Amino acid sequence: MRFSPRWLLTGLTGSAFLLSFGIQWVPQAQAQDKKEIAKKIQATVIATGESLASGDASKVKELEKYDLDPIMHSFKPRARGGIGFGPMAGLVPPNEDGLESKLISLAKKPLSPADAAKFESAISVAAHQILAIGLVSDTKWPENKDKSKSKEKWSEFNTIMKDSAKDLAAAAKSKNSAKIKSSASSLNRSCNECHTAFRD
Ligand code: HEC
Repeated sequence: MRFSPRWLLTGLTGSAFLLSFGIQWVPQAQAQDKKEIAKKIQATVIATGESLASGDASKVKELEKYDLDPIMHSFKPRARGGIGFGPMAGLVPPNEDGLESKLISLAKKPLSPADAAKFESAISVAAHQILAIGLVSDTKWPENKDKSKSKEKWSEFNTIMKDSAKDLAAAAKSKNSAKIKSSASSLNRSCNECHTAFRD
């Protein structure tokens, strides 16, 4: 049989179809599972944050059941499956609608007095959600023999994250733009330093 270019093309298209079908189908199902788990975890982060705001830390235990990575996924922009900033989309532009992206923007420039008043509640809610993540992260040291990745280092970064989250909540309540900025910067540092040591 002659090896005609047309036959070759049909053969290739056929296997490309099979390949793409086979390859996409499984990850799509997994991606759906991952999404559902993330939503469940985030509902727990949100509830834990709410109870922390009224001084009750008992829900942290519930969060401890989950792995650190999907818990940290809460920080992603709302459009990429994270919690977001504020009760629903639209309070801030999409590029700031994430716990992490909002922290970065708060650390850059102090809020005007009008914005400090407008965002008081949303910042306070976000700060308590971050505190919830900090409290649960405390129990998630990825055991490691490397000294630079000791349990002490892990809890040092977590302590900065928790303390700065509390500072941010207090600064939001007093609508103190300078303190909102400084506690957001200190929070950002805790994320980056821990990621450099333990994640990168
Ligand atoms: C005490 C250490 C520590 C601190 C503090 C910390 N992280 Fe993480 N974070 C990690 C580790 C470790 C991972 C990777 C987990 C894994 O892959 O299992 C991670 C993963 C992430 C991820 C990826 C989640 C995903 O979807 O895969 C994001 C986003 C993130 N962190 C954001 C933040 C932000 C924002 C802060 C600060 C407000 C922060 N983290 C503070 C240790 C930390």
